[in-house]
Amino acid sequence: MNKQTNQRLDKVTTSSWLIHGALAIGLLSALVATLGNPLKLFGPSELDKYSWGNESGVCQQVPKLSPKNTNVEQFVREKVESPDYHREIINKLSGMIQIPSESYDELGPIGEDKRWDIFYQMEDYIQSNYPTVLENVKLDHANTHGLILTWEGSVPASDAKPILMLAHQDVVPVLAENVKDWTHPPYEGHYDGEIIWGRGATDDKGYLISIIESLDLLIKSGFKPKRTVILAFGCDEEISGENCARPISNFLHDRYGDDGIYLIMDEGSMGIHKEFDQSFAMVSVAEKGYLDVGINVTSTGGHASNPPDHNVIGVLSEILVAIENHTFPRQVTTENPIFGFLECAAAHAPESSFPISVRDKLSKVAHGDGSAQQKLVEILDNMRYYFRTSQSVGKINGGVKINAIPESASTLINLRLAVETSVSQVEEHYENLIRPIAKKHGMVFEGFKSPCHSLEKRKVCLFGVDALEPAPVSPVDAESFRILSGTIKNVLKPLDQDDELIVTPYLMAANTDTKFYWALTKNIYRFTPVNLVENLNRAHTTDEFIRAEEFVREPLFFASLILNADDVVGS
Ligand SMILES: *[C@@H]1O[C@H](CO)[C@@H](O)[C@H](O)[C@H]1NC(C)=O
Ligand SMILES: *[C@@H]1O[C@H](CO)[C@@H](O)[C@H](O)[C@H]1NC(C)=O
Ligand SMILES: *[C@@H]1O[C@H](CO)[C@@H](O)[C@H](O)[C@H]1NC(C)=O
Ligand SMILES: [Zn+2]
Repeated sequence: MNKQTNQRLDKVTTSSWLIHGALAIGLLSALVATLGNPLKLFGPSELDKYSWGNESGVCQQVPKLSPKNTNVEQFVREKVESPDYHREIINKLSGMIQIPSESYDELGPIGEDKRWDIFYQMEDYIQSNYPTVLENVKLDHANTHGLILTWEGSVPASDAKPILMLAHQDVVPVLAENVKDWTHPPYEGHYDGEIIWGRGATDDKGYLISIIESLDLLIKSGFKPKRTVILAFGCDEEISGENCARPISNFLHDRYGDDGIYLIMDEGSMGIHKEFDQSFAMVSVAEKGYLDVGINVTSTGGHASNPPDHNVIGVLSEILVAIENHTFPRQVTTENPIFGFLECAAAHAPESSFPISVRDKLSKVAHGDGSAQQKLVEILDNMRYYFRTSQSVGKINGGVKINAIPESASTLINLRLAVETSVSQVEEHYENLIRPIAKKHGMVFEGFKSPCHSLEKRKVCLFGVDALEPAPVSPVDAESFRILSGTIKNVLKPLDQDDELIVTPYLMAANTDTKFYWALTKNIYRFTPVNLVENLNRAHTTDEFIRAEEFVREPLFFASLILNADDVVGS
């Protein structure tokens, strides 16, 4: 996944990955910090009336779903459990890590900028390591380096929508000065018998190998799909997505049309993770939106010995104080996948591990109780960035000379939009806040619709960069979500033996290539079938790794998903 859709602020922000991971890990401790030890908050008698597990509809779990074709499943399982296979797939990942397929912020177009040529090596590597797959799929290219592999099913796509699995070939660059900080060189693909080290091990070459491997295994088992299976590999997920992800999605949209895909799988943010003493498979069913807001304040200059009371730096400062003093509202709505997650925790986590005050409010909010919603907002304050649009002033510029009155001052603010809001609502919030300040200083105000066009010298203008609406929330009552859940239950294990793995919706604070795929299906699931919090907390930084034991089982998961999705064709 990418740390942000726009890399312009790269130097001033840390990876949202880390922030996201930290938020996730801090979830329980945050609640405990707010509430005190939840154990102390209620006695045993109070517990009974909150036995949520049986309340109809709250986080209902589906049973394990095993593929009907037991011969094929058996073949795949046996293969995935054999030591020979482990060696093979680990070698393949290690070899792929050795190709430094970095994507850079300022890359020119494919075909012009030579730095893209490393992706020819990626394609060669895929072709030479997966000859069986390549013989059985149709390979299409979108803008040269976007790869689309189509394994045609026997039933036409109009009767059985294809299943689409995404991965990206590119990795975040390793800065030369940081190489020395790596335990093993970032592009060595070192395997120490337990862990595979290197840039891209989890983000996202492990995923790429796993999905193509699942096809390889299924083809070798003799399986013939009814439902078409498509794999698509982008080349620029870590930057804009404009060079591969968008062309790939356009290609597929031309071929299958609106809503023409059954489900999309892509990398997730949490995977299997323990919260509230409970193992969860966290399937991100939405992503927060994105916007960088620019504010430019300009005026006429002059000599510092004859200054106005407020120059552009002063006015911009006043604007920033107002912005920080008017944060976006916190809202805990049932639309937010994190609400669904809290419900799942309330229903399935051990009662002593989940704060009763939250449990109680959840059901009231679900039944439309506004004051309970307000209270819940207070209680969950430490998790507020899941429930509100975040804003972070990332850059500020102004003034060139100490004895000259500055003529311009500007700032860039990074926003992650809450699922309930929209780019236009957020823009309106800023316009309403800043317009009166411009007016007070007798300056022209230009909002987002007419960014900085006028020749007027004394003005405040606003503009948006890289706007992305929050992702539509994928429904959890869709057949495809039940198929995915049943597959998770069947293949993946809880983190402790005596635990049960609960499938829960979740929200991603970062963005993935799926931002280009909304028209293709409502059913977009971002999920990696490993304990990602552990594996991925090193993504985008030094010592990225993946645990071999978890990695080698990923193909079984994806193969089972393909089989289970095939079983419902025509039913
Ligand atoms: C409540 O859930 C438990 C455990 O899941 C189950 O054994 C029991 O039958 C359920 N009770 C009702 C009334 O549904
Ligand atoms: C805003 O100000 C910055 C910094 O001075 C400048 O680079 C940019 O072009 C300005 N943007 C607009 C839209 O005028
Ligand atoms: C911030 O807002 C509050 C309430 O809206 C107001 O009382 C306070 O004066 C504001 N502070 C600044 C520095 O504008
Ligand atoms: Zn990624």
